[in-house]
Amino acid sequence: AFNLRNRSFLKELDFTPKEWKFLIDLAAELKLAKYTGAEQPRLTGKNIALIFEKTSTRTRCSFEVAAYDQGAQVTYLDPQGSQIGHKESMADTARVLGRMFDGIEYRGAAQENVEVLARYAGVPVWNGLTDDWHPTQMLCDMLTMRENSPKHDGEIAFAYLGDARNNMANSLLVSGAMMGMDVRIVGPEELWNDSEIIDQAKAIADQTGARILHTADVKEGVAGADFLYTDVWVSMGEPVEAWESRIQQLKDYQVNSAAMSATGNPNVKFMHCLPAFHDRHTKVGEDLYQKTGMEALEVTDEVFESPASIVFDQAENRMHTIKAILVATLGS
Ligand code: CP
Ligand code: NVA
Repeated sequence: AFNLRNRSFLKELDFTPKEWKFLIDLAAELKLAKYTGAEQPRLTGKNIALIFEKTSTRTRCSFEVAAYDQGAQVTYLDPQGSQIGHKESMADTARVLGRMFDGIEYRGAAQENVEVLARYAGVPVWNGLTDDWHPTQMLCDMLTMRENSPKHDGEIAFAYLGDARNNMANSLLVSGAMMGMDVRIVGPEELWNDSEIIDQAKAIADQTGARILHTADVKEGVAGADFLYTDVWVSMGEPVEAWESRIQQLKDYQVNSAAMSATGNPNVKFMHCLPAFHDRHTKVGEDLYQKTGMEALEVTDEVFESPASIVFDQAENRMHTIKAILVATLGS
């Protein structure tokens, strides 16, 4: 076991591969304990602040349910309902909340914000998504891959198709490298991860035996993959005008039946952190359809609704893995 008590959870790079795997193992244990009615509350009496400057369904609910399962209380702060950012600095906010709470979750744009919170709060701070990283999602995704593959971590291959300049692509690249996986980033070159992040991932891969491939060629990128992963083509905080150019850049990188077949793997699974634009059932989806005529964006409804799709198992695992972070950093 690893002692992560009082540590913050700001990005994958702050952890060793062994610590990372320990958190995934702990999540699997906590999941089993919940399923079998054997869960022991280890956060009794703890108070947790949840700051969301960007919207959320899964991350917020996961923190809340995980906290309640473990005996902790939460306070939810939305950007309108507090002074944060507009009237009070991150450093001051951190020093105030740190006097009242035992731990603080933060979701917002700047990675710097969550780093400043952690520097000044004096209690663990957890990154619930920034423009650069989505580390709580990674523990979930690695656990979900483990559960859906008979292979050892180091034998698993996954391909991420789409916008590889966003938080998800950065996190998948680094987390996959830490797990020793075969990581393929598939998209047009201008949308690949920053070279600095690629270099960091390659340095980790040298230690773990991971393989890293960036390619614009879908066939090359997906060949033999165990999982095809995608994310929205325009992330929170980007202007709506970005859609037009992004669709042009990414329309050949949609996860559809052809991409699934091109893996050559009859057991290939589909993953997505969600929310997804797989049909027109949302207001944004309908608007985009009217504008572009595209029935689906990053994934087709056919793949999303197929037996190969494990997106809702993945969504559930957000809760179990966030619980592992809370227990490891704050638990008695
Ligand atoms: N995957 C994820 O972070 O979902 P939410 O935006 O709903 O939290
Ligand atoms: N890249 C997406 C992930 C949402 C969970 C975004 O930042 O909007």
